[in-house]
Amino acid sequence: MDLGIKGRAAIVTGASRGIGRETARQFLEEGVRVMICGRNAETLEKTRAELAKQTGGEVHAVVADMTIEADIAKLVAAAQQKFGTVDILINNAGQMYSGRFAAMTDAGLKEQFETKIFGFLRAIRLVYPIMKAQKWGRIINIIGGAGKEPDPYMFGSGITNSGLLNITKSLSTEFGEDNVLVNAICPGWVATNLWERNAEGLKADLQVKTEEEARRLAARKNSLNRFGKPEELANAIVFLCSERSSYITGVSLNLDGGRLKGLW
Ligand SMILES: NC(=O)c1ccc[n+]([C@@H]2O[C@H](COP(=O)([O-])OP(=O)(O)OC[C@H]3O[C@@H](n4cnc5c(N)ncnc54)[C@H](OP(=O)(O)O)[C@@H]3O)[C@@H](O)[C@H]2O)c1
Repeated sequence: MDLGIKGRAAIVTGASRGIGRETARQFLEEGVRVMICGRNAETLEKTRAELAKQTGGEVHAVVADMTIEADIAKLVAAAQQKFGTVDILINNAGQMYSGRFAAMTDAGLKEQFETKIFGFLRAIRLVYPIMKAQKWGRIINIIGGAGKEPDPYMFGSGITNSGLLNITKSLSTEFGEDNVLVNAICPGWVATNLWERNAEGLKADLQVKTEEEARRLAARKNSLNRFGKPEELANAIVFLCSERSSYITGVSLNLDGGRLKGLW
């Protein structure tokens, strides 16, 4: 299927690894020009060079911390300068603020808000006028299942994730007349570095001895009984940014192998 987005310009935040990196790769395969960012300059440049070599596409990188307003402005300005526009924004950069209520700190929650609420909103604020002026835009917020189904171990992430669902729906309504489509992805467990970093905490929470056992128990909740792969997430993200998805907005798509059992 021709996705109809060859030549479009995309920003993918947090794309030096994991879901963001794979999304950038698939955009490049489709002929989309891509700007990626991350905080670690070395990893970011390594990824940029590898993606360019693998795909032959146009990919640029800016070191930017999405919790810092000036960095977000720098990122969007760099994309505009390189591409002349921004057609697609993938708000992906983020952590998982895991742990139960007793372990939560104000500082930890503030950091989570800076990344996943303010980081996402500030990027949208800067790209929306560009998309509105050209009457074409795609914004995807990468959220997480705990926004729909509260999970005591994902208490902090759940708080911001619910907010992001509201932001996605609300902005999809407001931006609709400008043909700027706003959708969300809710990943379940995906086999990325983020999972590796959470493995110790999950082992303790599930009261198991090995990472393998924690992974097995975590995956058992999924109908497909396994973790997702970054490319399985990217397949849907890229589709939602395509010309083929021109009548889809305000949707939050669960990409979790059937983890959430609710009706939305
Ligand atoms: N993996 C899962 O199971 C899962 C589940 C639910 C939701 N999610 C969400 O999916 C998104 C991607 O997760 P992932 O699993 O791909 O994570 P990952 O493998 O840890 O990759 C995260 C990427 O974001 C960058 N990043 C992190 N914080 C940043 C910041 N403040 N500013 C700029 N870049 C930043 C990282 O690079 P640097 O460290 O160099 O900045 C890295 O490139 C996140 O928003 C996460 O909350 C993931």
